[in-house]
Amino acid sequence: MCGIVGYIGKKNTKEILLSGLKELEYRGYDSAGIAILQNGVFSNFKAVGKLVNLEEKTKEFKTNDFAVGIGHTRWATHGKPTELNAHPHLGEHSYVVHNGIIENYAELKKELQAGGVTFLSQTDTEVIVHQFEKNMKVLKNSFEAFKKTLKELHGAYAILLVTKEQSDTIFFAKHGSPMIIGINEQNENYFASSDTPLIGHCKSVNYFEDGDYGYAKPNEIVIFDKTDTKKEAKLTPLSQNRLSAQKDGFRFFMEKEIYEQSSVISDTLMGRINDKEVIFEELSPTLFAGINEIKLCACGTSYHAAMSASYLFERYAKIKTSLEIASEFRYRDPIMTKDTLFVVISQSGETADTLETLKMAKAAGLKTLAICNVDNSSIVRLSDATILTRAGIEKGVASTKAFATQVSVFWMLSLYIARLKNSMSEDAIAAQISLLREVPAHVKVNDAMHERIKRLSKRYLHGHGFFFIGRDVFYPLALEGALKLKEISYLHAEGYPSGEMKHGPIALADPELFTIALLPKYLHYEKAKSNVEELSARDSTICAISQLEFDKADDFIQINECSHYMLEFFEMMVVLQLLALEISIRLGNDVDMPRNLAKSVTVE
Ligand code: AGP
Repeated sequence: MCGIVGYIGKKNTKEILLSGLKELEYRGYDSAGIAILQNGVFSNFKAVGKLVNLEEKTKEFKTNDFAVGIGHTRWATHGKPTELNAHPHLGEHSYVVHNGIIENYAELKKELQAGGVTFLSQTDTEVIVHQFEKNMKVLKNSFEAFKKTLKELHGAYAILLVTKEQSDTIFFAKHGSPMIIGINEQNENYFASSDTPLIGHCKSVNYFEDGDYGYAKPNEIVIFDKTDTKKEAKLTPLSQNRLSAQKDGFRFFMEKEIYEQSSVISDTLMGRINDKEVIFEELSPTLFAGINEIKLCACGTSYHAAMSASYLFERYAKIKTSLEIASEFRYRDPIMTKDTLFVVISQSGETADTLETLKMAKAAGLKTLAICNVDNSSIVRLSDATILTRAGIEKGVASTKAFATQVSVFWMLSLYIARLKNSMSEDAIAAQISLLREVPAHVKVNDAMHERIKRLSKRYLHGHGFFFIGRDVFYPLALEGALKLKEISYLHAEGYPSGEMKHGPIALADPELFTIALLPKYLHYEKAKSNVEELSARDSTICAISQLEFDKADDFIQINECSHYMLEFFEMMVVLQLLALEISIRLGNDVDMPRNLAKSVTVE
């Protein structure tokens, strides 16, 4: 989590740092700070809350000519979101910003305190700068002191450090958290946690590998790898197409992203289907050679997309499929056999838990595939193969269009594997492909429907909880609907398999328990309907979503006519997203930056 920027050059350092942080604010927004070293003098500003507070605080501050600066936007791990805990953290003559967690910070802190160091914050990060200065006193060389410090840190980090001892330099290190450096013809150096802050400033960038460390100053970048061997920067062209999303008249990015789903799904399908087959040019058919099982691993919304895939893979591709929550998989000594294809799913490509499971699978010699939305992300760079979901930049913390494209990719992939394994007839595959082509039309938001959900939302602002229920592939959709609602409305919501309600949760049923029931016409309709009737009989307030009229519900949202359950899935997905959005707006919440969350979870 957290976003980091750094700059060395003669331009307006303050503006460069602040605009870089703006692009990274989705990574954390409970506080932000910058430190700028100019003419041997440090200027440091920190503010709690969103970046606008830091902008306000630095309004009068000007930089001109050569300076070195670092900045940080924080998602708190150790210590509350206060100004003292905001980065950059100060030693006697140095500042540091850090993304990740220093696991042995408590031991280091104890030793430093015993040596007379006073700590100002409760963070793990602050030990880095004090440890560096302690080493500096002995080694009398900033780089050697930095190097020694890194060897003493355990955990995950991306670090930028500046010191008065070497006032034209930024020291950097990457181990488990993302970090990029961009270089341009004016000999400026830009650092950031992801591509976006560098767009418009640099044409090429170097993605640091885990274990890389070194320093940058005008005309010089020195990089060492994890074996302490000097290496050259590997420059990759940086896309100059600044997709820095604007809201385009929508109230929130999330709303805009829901409306974009039709066009991004078209992009996801583009060039990947013809009348008879699914073509993934990015995949070699040998990827599936010798594979008897697919293991899907992810977190949050990406996990829900993976769960939908598990139904499709077994149903269409007839391949054994298992499902893993990344944070659980990491620590449960899983059995990994080489006939398993390990598939990780991630919007950001930077989720720490998912990334770690990918490393585990690789270490166990498994073939790996990433379904990801961000090219060049850590997960993409590490996987043997990748299918990009092409959802475009997703800014709302609550994922919408990324989920839609993930499920589209999985539907395609199930047919691709079905063809490889001859588990479906050619005609059946062709029929499914023609359904896939209909998806963009089914996720188009219809004004009347949006208006209806907006009106309906006022009835769902209270109560003691929501159950979203569905069967089969509609169970992961129910989970996703519940996650959307709780993320942005802060109301308690659970996703449950419809048939499981009578095994316990039905005890909660009363008029203040809201049941959002997914009733697809083309998948177990009668069974799902009976489950809803059981809840209705116990007076739970029911909001049913279906293409078939349903008279046992208090509220009914009718989706458009669909000829297949997967099209009903996509129609209902939009309804659930809009319902969460409208409830959150009515409650006056910040839809795009809900409390306690961050877009990209780069800590475990
Ligand atoms: C989605 O609305 C969430 N904000 C969150 O659950 C997210 O899906 C999860 O953190 C995984 O992120 P990733 O897809 O970038 O790996």
